[in-house]
Amino acid sequence: MALKSKVGFIGFGRMGSALVHGALSSNVLKVDQITAFDVDLVARQKIKKQRLTLAKSAVEVVQSSDLIFLCVKPQQMGDLVKSLGAALKKKGEKKCFASIAAGISLKDLEKSLGVGVPVLRVMPNTPALIGAGMSVFCLGRSATEKHKADVETILKSVGEAALVSEDKMDAVTAVSGSGPAYGFYLAEAMIEAGVELGLSEELAERLVRQTLYGAGLMLKKSDETAKNLRLHVTSPGGTTAAAVAEFENKGFKTIVSAALYSAAERSKELSQGN
Ligand SMILES: NC(=O)c1ccc[n+]([C@@H]2O[C@H](COP(=O)([O-])OP(=O)(O)OC[C@H]3O[C@@H](n4cnc5c(N)ncnc54)[C@H](OP(=O)(O)O)[C@@H]3O)[C@@H](O)[C@H]2O)c1
Repeated sequence: MALKSKVGFIGFGRMGSALVHGALSSNVLKVDQITAFDVDLVARQKIKKQRLTLAKSAVEVVQSSDLIFLCVKPQQMGDLVKSLGAALKKKGEKKCFASIAAGISLKDLEKSLGVGVPVLRVMPNTPALIGAGMSVFCLGRSATEKHKADVETILKSVGEAALVSEDKMDAVTAVSGSGPAYGFYLAEAMIEAGVELGLSEELAERLVRQTLYGAGLMLKKSDETAKNLRLHVTSPGGTTAAAVAEFENKGFKTIVSAALYSAAERSKELSQGN
């Protein structure tokens, strides 16, 4: 679905540029609808190269857009939203803002940008960079159905999108936000074990990459639960059963659960400024 809104991007690093790439390649946005700004020279050159409108400042992005994605690092967000809030107050404008920064709450965004300013908070994940992301988002008090629909459409151009209430954002961060790293960690462990079993590193890496890719694709495409998919390839007394028994003995699920609790707890601390 093509959007009519003018969309701005403040911060054109990995995630900002990935969202623009997704929106352009799926025809959700056209280049002349997009204005972007980044403090970094190389990122500004990327904006120009893609024939987007390069703004002279973050405030200029806000002036020329209806919906503005804030794609800077969490530690850069405080100063940015305060300066935008001050500029908005002068003009009395109410543009919509979608922040993708981890740990910055809707309340903090609303406080800095101004009372009644529509805001959304998004937690994307790294596979968005290859169009296979899982983004979860929540709505501020003044965000409308149209804001929700526009943001959801842009997020879907880089993968899937799910709407939740903000109290779920720490859990979401622990599951899908940090989740890709758990997959990479499992890959790392499998490669190391493959080498210990006598495979060359090159072969172990090749086997693991394609195996986890295939398993991920089956998880995505199949209507079966993850548990059933596993049971289908676990014959009693077989090799997979031997491996799974060892996972169970060593408390694999307990470890995963504890790890995700830690991630959720850390997310909560970060959003409280600790
Ligand atoms: N990458 C991921 O997988 C991922 C996953 C989930 C969430 N996120 C969130 O996405 C956000 C962006 O991450 P990223 O990986 O895209 O970061 P990034 O590659 O560092 O991009 C951020 C860009 O914004 C620029 N910038 C900083 N302050 C600015 C300002 N005031 N105005 C305009 N541009 C400014 C930075 O320039 P300098 O480098 O010069 O500071 C940089 O070019 C983060 O808040 C992160 O929490 C990312």
